[in-house]
Amino acid sequence: MQILITGATGFIGQHLVAALSTEHQLTVISRRRDKAERLFAEQVQVRRLDELNNLDAFDVIINLAGEPIADRYWTTRHKERIAQSRWLLTEALQQKLAVSQPRPRLWLNASAIGFYGQSDANGVNEYSPVAQPDFAHQVCQRWEQLATMAAEHQCRVCLLRLGIVLGKEGGVLQRLLPLYRLGLGSQLGSGKQFISWIAIDDVIAAIQFLLTRHECHGAYNLTTPYPVSQLDFSRQLARSVQRPHWLWTPAWLLRLLLGERAALLINGPAVYPQRLQEAGFTFAFPELSQALHHVLGGAPVTGRTESGPSSANSRD
Ligand SMILES: NC(=O)c1ccc[n+]([C@@H]2O[C@H](COP(=O)([O-])OP(=O)(O)OC[C@H]3O[C@@H](n4cnc5c(N)ncnc54)[C@H](OP(=O)(O)O)[C@@H]3O)[C@@H](O)[C@H]2O)c1
Repeated sequence: MQILITGATGFIGQHLVAALSTEHQLTVISRRRDKAERLFAEQVQVRRLDELNNLDAFDVIINLAGEPIADRYWTTRHKERIAQSRWLLTEALQQKLAVSQPRPRLWLNASAIGFYGQSDANGVNEYSPVAQPDFAHQVCQRWEQLATMAAEHQCRVCLLRLGIVLGKEGGVLQRLLPLYRLGLGSQLGSGKQFISWIAIDDVIAAIQFLLTRHECHGAYNLTTPYPVSQLDFSRQLARSVQRPHWLWTPAWLLRLLLGERAALLINGPAVYPQRLQEAGFTFAFPELSQALHHVLGGAPVTGRTESGPSSANSRD
């Protein structure tokens, strides 16, 4: 298939290109052509968005690009950048889709479990209502709405509501590992908030699964069936790098240091991949201990995770 990918130079995108380039012809849209060409060499064609008049040449669009959400303080200006980086690119792609003939058959769009807002629910899945919409919800909701416009052109749309993606080369582990290796792993706030995570290998496998399942459309949570509490996550990560775990960072301090962004760390419902499992997807790394062992190498982390699949894992 001819596949167009945005955000391919990022953490998930690089894994995806490596996995798809053996079977498909890939074109990458990047703001940094030199970097993309250096990264991918002969594997892909690199284009700037303004070089494409339409999307005639592509069977599939995979839209991942967006300003990182957790890297900087959320000033009004930066929040605007986080939102607009996703919305404007998606709108521009939709305009090109509307004038395409033939049109792509499939649109896979990144989103995030931030879609569910600040839910206190024990567990949420794709059928759950959004209790308290916040900034992350607003970004994801509009992003998903724009992506779903492709369905008006008989294009199948799947929305990838990503949890915290675990891989060594990027995402949250790249930031946490140096701290944990110094023994600075910490319980955050009550530690009872959930970390709904997924191994990078399962993200790529889920995308490949959705690529070929013509009956699949709509929102899919890309999260493990076994989310864990933040305290459990933190303890297991510390154990996996053979360091002690004794620090506690109170929620008020996180709010003081990080402002509104602290919500990403001190709130979080358990999010379950109900629709992926209903569709028949199986996870290679469902348990945190397995995933950390796979991602980090070394001795397996023993000890079962605190939380198994929840009763909320059924249709609400
Ligand atoms: N990793 C996670 O744990 C996670 C969790 C939930 C959701 N997600 C979402 O999944 C998507 C991919 O995640 P990732 O971890 O691979 O992201 P990433 O490593 O930050 O890469 C995102 C890519 O988006 C492009 N980009 C960055 N800032 C941009 C801007 N201001 N305007 C337009 N494009 C911009 C860049 O590509 P170019 O420089 O080549 O243009 C970059 O390589 C993101 O949208 C992210 O929000 C990720």
